Amino acid sequence: MELFKTGDWNLKADKIAFQSTEKNAAKKVKKEQRKKKIKERKDAQIKQAQEEDSEESFSDDEIETIPVVTEQKVTKKKQPVATKPAIALQAKRKLTPLQQKMMAKLSGSRFRWINEQLYTISSEDALELIKSQPELFDEYHDGFRSQVLTWPENPIDVFIDQIQTRLKRNINAPGGLPGLPHSRKLIIADMGCGEATLALKVNNFFKQNKRLKKKIEYKVHSFDLKRVNERITVADIKNVPLPDESCSIVVFCLALMGTNFLDFIKEAYRILTPRGEIWIAEIKSRFADGKGDEFVNALKLLGFFHKNTDDSNKMFTRFEFFKPPEDILKERIAKLERRQKFIEVQTEKEQLETKRKKAAEGKWLLKPCIYKRR
Ligand SMILES: C[S@@+](CC[C@H](N)C(=O)[O-])C[C@H]1O[C@@H](n2cnc3c(N)ncnc32)[C@H](O)[C@@H]1O
Repeated sequence: MELFKTGDWNLKADKIAFQSTEKNAAKKVKKEQRKKKIKERKDAQIKQAQEEDSEESFSDDEIETIPVVTEQKVTKKKQPVATKPAIALQAKRKLTPLQQKMMAKLSGSRFRWINEQLYTISSEDALELIKSQPELFDEYHDGFRSQVLTWPENPIDVFIDQIQTRLKRNINAPGGLPGLPHSRKLIIADMGCGEATLALKVNNFFKQNKRLKKKIEYKVHSFDLKRVNERITVADIKNVPLPDESCSIVVFCLALMGTNFLDFIKEAYRILTPRGEIWIAEIKSRFADGKGDEFVNALKLLGFFHKNTDDSNKMFTRFEFFKPPEDILKERIAKLERRQKFIEVQTEKEQLETKRKKAAEGKWLLKPCIYKRR
């Protein structure tokens, strides 16, 4: 054994030590290679997410509107079959914090992409899109829900508060909610209801107020592109399965999404009873003139009387209109004729329809609402 020993230097041990250094070096190389591979994979994921984001070129604020949609874009949306892979299933796997961050980024991109589709295609195409890929609706609402959480106020809650406050007065009484003329039934249609939160909260309110429930007959109809719960009826809101004059309030809460949204307003007019009200909330930045005067004028030309505009909220504006009953309508026509303005108004109505034929109102009256990357 001493053969291998030279003073303090143990050759055998050194040899062994040398071999182990060799092994360690090999291990180290393998480890480095593994690390490199992992890094390459992560870089590829980051690059993919960045590409997704740069496609949409958003800046840092939360919401913006995009300018007029090009013909090319609309043609593309004419075949509303989305090609991006669904990422919801991947989310079910256990993810590292970095992967979770990447997934959040991808979901954000998906949400913004679906949102843009819904604002830049017609309502018929939107129904087709969600029917063929129902998971898009869920992905959209996951994103919408987290957007709403960042807002100081959710417009749907303002509408719910308004219903509760006005229920302190009798139906059809001054300051009270409008009801059907003879039965005084309160019939609400929530158009583009999302997850039908309005119906849920109004139902809960009545459940908690037994006295009110005994006194008032009510019903909330909720329409959207997918039936995510039993309160919802699937329908394109330009054509809902309700008879003429069967509702007393029609609500559009951030729901004027299709490029043909004035068709939704016409549908509201059809289903509303005279003196029935239409309540609309829309994101402020959608109005080309900032205030929504042109929008109000369009609704007036479609037959509604303007009641109120509330733009006290930083993010959205609320509008209230009512459908005039026969006597008020006659009075208005007589007034216009006296002022020799009747023909003028009729011409404006025709001009609106001509303009709509040339380009859908989603291209000039309300801009699409685009949520920016945060
Ligand atoms: C921004 S979300 C708002 C949802 C709900 N009103 C709220 O405030 O929580 C707009 C909703 O309108 C629906 N929508 C858009 N176009 C529609 C159409 N043509 N028919 C039915 N629903 C539509 C979308 O599917 C989406 O659920």
